[in-house]
Amino acid sequence: MVFASKDRAASPGTPGIRIAALASGTGTILEALLGAELPIVVVIVDRRCGAEKVAEQAGVPVVLNERTDFSKIFDRDSYTREIVEALDLHGVDVVVMAGFGTVLGAKVHERYAGRVLNTHPALLPAFKGWHAVEAAIEAGVKVTGCTVHLATLEVDDGPILAQEAVEVLDGDTVATLHERIKEVERRLYPATVRRFVESMQKELE
Ligand code: GRF
Repeated sequence: MVFASKDRAASPGTPGIRIAALASGTGTILEALLGAELPIVVVIVDRRCGAEKVAEQAGVPVVLNERTDFSKIFDRDSYTREIVEALDLHGVDVVVMAGFGTVLGAKVHERYAGRVLNTHPALLPAFKGWHAVEAAIEAGVKVTGCTVHLATLEVDDGPILAQEAVEVLDGDTVATLHERIKEVERRLYPATVRRFVESMQKELE
């Protein structure tokens, strides 16, 4: 486990607020969040992935809490407890999921109630789940998009904070459509997280 070595929390508009980003993928959404100079003090990954390198390049401490069990008997509660411990160790106020592949248990939502954000590559409540882009193509919809929402124990549920539509083009593959959605997410998610932490900061004042 790596500890915060550098305090990125002194961000204009949000002094004192500390964000943790959770990621599992290539890390392009994470890169956009970091590029927006949000006060991200730690990145937590559940596997070796591109996001880990993105964080390292930005000089942000990375915690690798490797998930080794992908079976039905995966001990989600214990895994979640470890994540909460890491969040607490870094004095985190807000958790932003940026393509995190493990569904976390109740403990994180109890500890950080109303302060866990997620971005999803579809217009919720349509196409919940990990294969949202594929499901949209299979359904033959002409418009899909992305949703930034507060995460709850129910997967891809919770109050919607922002949404934007993306047109499905003839001949789109999962890869081409997902990339156009991610272009929007890379703009919409950082802007929404900023709005969220700024309003949280105002409430603290
Ligand atoms: C994004 O589309 C996000 O909505 C989904 O996973 C993707 C992450 O992309 N949950 P990247 O790994 O950051 O490029």
